[in-house]
Amino acid sequence: MNPAPLTAAEQASLRRRCTVQVPGHPSSAPGAELVRIGQWCQEHGWHADVYGEGKLIDVFERKIATLLGKAAAVFMPSGTMAQLIALRIWCERKGSKRIAMHATSHLELHEERAYAHLHGLQVTLLGARERPTEARDLAEMLATGAEPPAALLVELPAREIGGRLPSWEKIEALSALAHDRGIRLHMDGARLWEAREHFAPKSLAEVCAPFDSVYVSFYKGIGALAGAMLLGPEDFIAEARIWRRRHGGTLVQLHPFVASAAMRFDTQIAKMPAYRARALDFAAGLSTIAGMVVDPQPPQVNLFHVHFAAPPAALTTARDQIASEDGAWLAQRIGPGNTPGWSSTEIYVGDNLLTHDNSIVVPLFAKLLALAHSHARATSLLAHPQMRATT
Ligand SMILES: Cc1ncc(COP(=O)(O)O)c(C=O)c1O
Repeated sequence: MNPAPLTAAEQASLRRRCTVQVPGHPSSAPGAELVRIGQWCQEHGWHADVYGEGKLIDVFERKIATLLGKAAAVFMPSGTMAQLIALRIWCERKGSKRIAMHATSHLELHEERAYAHLHGLQVTLLGARERPTEARDLAEMLATGAEPPAALLVELPAREIGGRLPSWEKIEALSALAHDRGIRLHMDGARLWEAREHFAPKSLAEVCAPFDSVYVSFYKGIGALAGAMLLGPEDFIAEARIWRRRHGGTLVQLHPFVASAAMRFDTQIAKMPAYRARALDFAAGLSTIAGMVVDPQPPQVNLFHVHFAAPPAALTTARDQIASEDGAWLAQRIGPGNTPGWSSTEIYVGDNLLTHDNSIVVPLFAKLLALAHSHARATSLLAHPQMRATT
């Protein structure tokens, strides 16, 4: 008999007890980040901002604007807010409600379609689901005689499809077509820091150059408490500040989030090449295990998907068993894969994996799949013939 699935709280507690963690960055002890923020502000004499006005936030906005080659920047409490604001402004300027994006974009899948509910915007989902947006997708839309969008949102890298990126030539072609047709190009750069490594030696500013506006995140690769930034022309950012207030995002004090991002920023950016190199090495190791598919292989950034020839429930039970027996937390969310009976998980390579080499973690993934197969057999979940072939 397989054990009952763990609750989210039980999983979190099990994860905390593990000494080997694979995805992401280590979680900090209760209050540790708040203590670091306090100490850092005291050491540097940073006062609290008042409704987003203050030296710390100002210096940090200018630093990121310079790095990304944009005229101005505004700190935002969330990426969700930043991108809705960007799209709303571009739409108002064009006098259109039409926006376009990939079918797997965060706005479409994870924000309850706020663009429609809060801003009355209408979306066209462009191109094939399994690859990033390209100029031919926009050309196809325009060829139908449909109303051109005011703005096209492009996520670099596209998280839901394994962190895939278009080639640089494809980005240039997309930007040329969009601009030729008066369409603003907005970058969902939630993982821009990670994407730049793929385009190295291009600088962050060079990667941002084809885009009219850019959003970046500070809590993913940078590991801050929360927070985002929107960047673009001066007048666009001035309008975005008004929209931040309208959205209730101009909190009376933003500085804990700003400080958390600013104090980590340089150190985390410097680690991006190591994260990507480790991701490539780890993916190569996983690819040697029969019944496991790394997607894409090789990964383009330090984020990729792994597909397993075993159903999600069996794999989750196996993950929890390894966490108890070996003290190793191998994967966070395990969901259904694209093939019936398979499952899939996202691996984000951060500080955790830098401290464990393949000789430790790859055999644990082989064990994970073997255990999942035995759990699946025990519960008669192993229905797909392809899976039987790999057991
Ligand atoms: C690609 C992408 N865009 C936007 C967001 C939204 O960011 P936030 O959680 O700061 O609202 C996320 C968050 O995970 C994301 O992954």
